[in-house]
Amino acid sequence: MKTLPVDIDRDRLPQHVAFIMDGNGRWAKQRGLPRIAGHRQGARILKDLVRCCKDWGIPTLTVYAFSTENWQRPLKEVEFLMRLFERLLRKELAEMHQEGVRLQFLGDLSELPSTLQTEMTQACDITAQNQGVTFNVAVNYGSRLEITRACQALAQQVKQGILNPEDIDESTISQQLYAPNGPDPDLLIRTSGEQRLSNYLLWQLAYTELYFTDRFWPDFDRSAFHEALLAYQQRDRRFGKVATALSA
Ligand code: IPE
Ligand code: IPE
Ligand code: MG
Repeated sequence: MKTLPVDIDRDRLPQHVAFIMDGNGRWAKQRGLPRIAGHRQGARILKDLVRCCKDWGIPTLTVYAFSTENWQRPLKEVEFLMRLFERLLRKELAEMHQEGVRLQFLGDLSELPSTLQTEMTQACDITAQNQGVTFNVAVNYGSRLEITRACQALAQQVKQGILNPEDIDESTISQQLYAPNGPDPDLLIRTSGEQRLSNYLLWQLAYTELYFTDRFWPDFDRSAFHEALLAYQQRDRRFGKVATALSA
């Protein structure tokens, strides 16, 4: 599966795929392992997925790594995850940079451990000019918080007299989101059988195709991704118009 599978139409690939990487804990439990073992294996799967996007020609992926709600987990698990993010950044950055990956982080990073913030800023700076895959990682991310902050920023501009309320349109709002310049996701994939958005990209997913699979994230390999892409290419994306030739 090094190259794009032949049954996938290269011209109709999603340009941006968003993932809710769910089920690490249950994957581990199934094997009698501690939850953190699931997070470790999940990280390995993610590493190959980034490479897979590059191999198959999908230019942008966004993954949900830690939500604003995830602070409510046991402190030990939260601390493990923060250390894992930091370790992964240190270990994988050089290779990702070499492969042309452009890293960006979405979320309120100011609440993260300061050493992790430093690694993140460096990683973004180093890879900012890369032309390969854009890899967005949502950490301490909450979509309602993102939209709330956008409203606050625009209200400030109105207060300062530099913005008229009647000039606010959809793109003005988009510009205030964490990653303002990328396209919206074409496809959202959530693993582990849960069928909810869990406060993820509520604005950006307005017209995204949703795909749910029962597989746990640590089992989401290239063949599972292939299946998701096949399902995506069966969809007729009407955007409110009438059916196209695909479904007619
Ligand atoms: C997703 O897997 C990883 C994070 C939310 C950090 P979970 O840890 O939610 O695994 P389950 O859902 O409990 O199985
Ligand atoms: C969503 O998964 C957040 C991430 C994958 C980082 P959760 O496991 O936290 O979501 P819920 O609790 O099932 O909604
Ligand atoms: Mg979960």
